[in-house]
Amino acid sequence: PTFHAFLRALPKCEHHMHLEGALRPHILFQLASKNNITLPQDDEAFASPESLLSRYQRFTSLDDFLHYYYIGMSVLITASDFEDLAWDYFLHASADGVAHAEVFFDPQAHVVRAVTYSTVVDGFSRACKRAESELGITTILTSCFLRHLPVQESLDLFDDEEVQKSYRDGTVTGIGLDSSEMDFPPELFVELFAKARKQGLNLTAHAGEEAPASYIATAVSDLRVTRIDHGIALPSSPDLLSQIAASKMLLTVCPLSNVVLRCVDTIADVPIRKLLDAGVQFSINSDDPAYFGGHCLDNHVAVHEAFDLSVDEWVGIVRAGIEGSWCATERKGELL
Ligand code: HPA
Ligand code: ZN
Repeated sequence: PTFHAFLRALPKCEHHMHLEGALRPHILFQLASKNNITLPQDDEAFASPESLLSRYQRFTSLDDFLHYYYIGMSVLITASDFEDLAWDYFLHASADGVAHAEVFFDPQAHVVRAVTYSTVVDGFSRACKRAESELGITTILTSCFLRHLPVQESLDLFDDEEVQKSYRDGTVTGIGLDSSEMDFPPELFVELFAKARKQGLNLTAHAGEEAPASYIATAVSDLRVTRIDHGIALPSSPDLLSQIAASKMLLTVCPLSNVVLRCVDTIADVPIRKLLDAGVQFSINSDDPAYFGGHCLDNHVAVHEAFDLSVDEWVGIVRAGIEGSWCATERKGELL
């Protein structure tokens, strides 16, 4: 119990949380009803919020999860829907002792259903402003591109005037790469990331979640990301492991996600000890808290139960998260 309080009190930074992944089943059903969205009738998982939640406990892979994730977010229509969703997450984050939250969203998944980019960003950014003023949590919004869709669609969205405006005015300050990983290697998106880099945006990519360490290598070499999301395949490549350690690049590890999506068997199989021994900087994150059964603090507790880390090790992990954040230097100073 005292260790729980210690973990809660640490000034944690969350770097890997998809806002659409904070959509809890009972809210999903409420929004479906409010917005007249018909949920799939041929899948008994959608019989009730309870049956949906129990289906989430039986995911078989990343793609099995993504199927439910994209259906789930189809109930989000108005700017208030997006604001309420993000606000629900920020309340949880605040209760968990999260001091700084860098959050992802998936614009392509909304624009294809005729929900405009501005609707999504207006709602999310309103919640971010509220989190800053009412909860004292600093926030950063990162737009992720979906690697299972044609590359040209990501380039077209990136060039869209509404999207460019959100980058220019600083509402959205980075890009990421997510969705189905296998067979969609980072190097497919080299042109997108080169453009974003030229504009001074922060760059990250999911890599080495289900796919091998070679995906981490090309995210770094070809996309020139400054962060790797997941990256649990890294220890399988000793050379890359020492290269990433030397670079001080941050890995955003999501232990409960890795177990629920069957990337590993148990939390003890997440390579926490190997990353610590190699000197790799990493943070502990929730990924999609409504789908994977835990928020930021739950992930910290699960790691502690599996690895029995020392106070010094925890302080080092949280410090790495602060140093690897994309917030202003002044804010880092406050958190350190
Ligand atoms: N991996 C890839 N895409 C995602 C994830 C993830 O863990 N969560 C939401 N979209
Ligand atoms: Zn993710």
